[in-house]
Amino acid sequence: NRLLDKKRDFEGKTVIVTAGPTREAIDPVRFISNHSTGKMGYAVAEKAAERGAKVYLISGPTALKAPDGVIMIPVSSAKDMQSKIMEHFDEAQIIIKSAAVADYAPATVHDHKIKKSGESLTIELVKNPDILYELGKIKGDKVLVGFAMETQNLIENAKEKVTKKNLDFIVANDLFTEGAGFASDTNVVKIIHKNGVVEELPKMTKLQLADEILDRIIEIKRT
Ligand code: CTP
Ligand code: CA
Repeated sequence: NRLLDKKRDFEGKTVIVTAGPTREAIDPVRFISNHSTGKMGYAVAEKAAERGAKVYLISGPTALKAPDGVIMIPVSSAKDMQSKIMEHFDEAQIIIKSAAVADYAPATVHDHKIKKSGESLTIELVKNPDILYELGKIKGDKVLVGFAMETQNLIENAKEKVTKKNLDFIVANDLFTEGAGFASDTNVVKIIHKNGVVEELPKMTKLQLADEILDRIIEIKRT
């Protein structure tokens, strides 16, 4: 029975899913972050668990509740996220990086609240580790999946990320497309594979897309 088979086709597999934004502290009361809601990553985690995987959901701060059956690991900064991934890296066969990681963090975190003073304020930022790029270097035969939200040159930019970060595929969407974007329950994506094949998926819910992503991962695992 193929339907039944599919339901538990991740049995025996360990999956790391990252989700949500990261927060990079400026001082004890302020941070730099982004509009990620975590919906896409939580959908992937939920479906992977439903299909039988052991799932570590490593998530930045979101308003969502942890899906049933996942091991929830809350994190805040990009560096926290990276270290929690590395704690479970050896155990996992599949890593799905849907988190919106802040590219830069404040160079210094002030111990006390910055007081209002002059007419302008400059905060120096330094580059965060590119977690996915670092994982790509040590991936071995693990399946590595990235996400990209672009506002222009979607395919070109996403292809470059697949190559540079040594991904199996990337799930890319255009922020300005109707039915896509951060808070939406639906998504409209292109899946770009490492062999250059570009799949254009129709608009679907994030839960449906999660299943589509997992289907492609299982296919890679089979071959
Ligand atoms: N990513 C990561 N660590 C970072 C930045 C991004 O792991 N410091 C991951 C994201 O989780 C995502 C993928 O890389 O799966 C692509 O993220 P994106 O922001 O689109 O790519 P960048 O390489 O940061 O390029 P840019 O923001 O300049 O488009
Ligand atoms: Ca980025």
